[in-house]
Amino acid sequence: SISSVVLLFTVVWTMVVLARLTSPPTKPVLAIEVICHQWWWEVRYLSDDPAQIFTTANEIHIPAGQPVLFKLVSADVIHSFWIPALGGKTDLIPGQTNETWLEAHKPGIYSGQCTEYCGLEHARMGLLLVAQTPGDFAAWRAHQLQSPARPATGEQWAGQANFTAHCGSCHAVRGTDAAGSLGPDLSHLMQRHTIAAGVLPNTPQNLDRWIADPQGIKPGVMMQKPEMSARERASVISYLTTLH
Ligand code: CUA
Repeated sequence: SISSVVLLFTVVWTMVVLARLTSPPTKPVLAIEVICHQWWWEVRYLSDDPAQIFTTANEIHIPAGQPVLFKLVSADVIHSFWIPALGGKTDLIPGQTNETWLEAHKPGIYSGQCTEYCGLEHARMGLLLVAQTPGDFAAWRAHQLQSPARPATGEQWAGQANFTAHCGSCHAVRGTDAAGSLGPDLSHLMQRHTIAAGVLPNTPQNLDRWIADPQGIKPGVMMQKPEMSARERASVISYLTTLH
């Protein structure tokens, strides 16, 4: 009958649309692992070559005009990955890897947010996705793979030593003895727009405020206030601002 033909057509059409939603039009050029933590995003650029792997946080760079595969995992509770301008929500569930893909049609900065209640600071678990031209992205990626420049002044060297002693068991800076993995990798910190997963613009003044009182700025955050004098903290800020 006519109605069963219409029904069959509708079923087939729905399957075609669903298949388009769940698989990219071409093979993704890049795979990025996003590991959710209370309350920030760890971002690992995957590669078959271990020398090409690097880690950053809270800001995801991708090439525009190309599908990118995301492998989503959680280090603690259920979170949800959502870049409203680019695609639907995908949950991050402890013990499993969920995949999704996104494509930004043109360069720009797209904001995202965790959309599954994950505890006290759920509302302040922001994310930026920076879509670049493929050339700019390649340059950014090559830079991320390098260690930041060594300190230039005595103050910065002192800051690096203080950073390693007080912060290096949680944070890493490529090419130094700071190799912690509990908190964000800070190798190229100054290239990021925000700190504390979108809570504050990334400025030297805000870095100082954050280190002086992380619990005051983001109550419940896993980061504890480092036991440093104001002078030591100033040296750490002076060092961090070299991490381009
Ligand atoms: Cu993570 Cu809500």
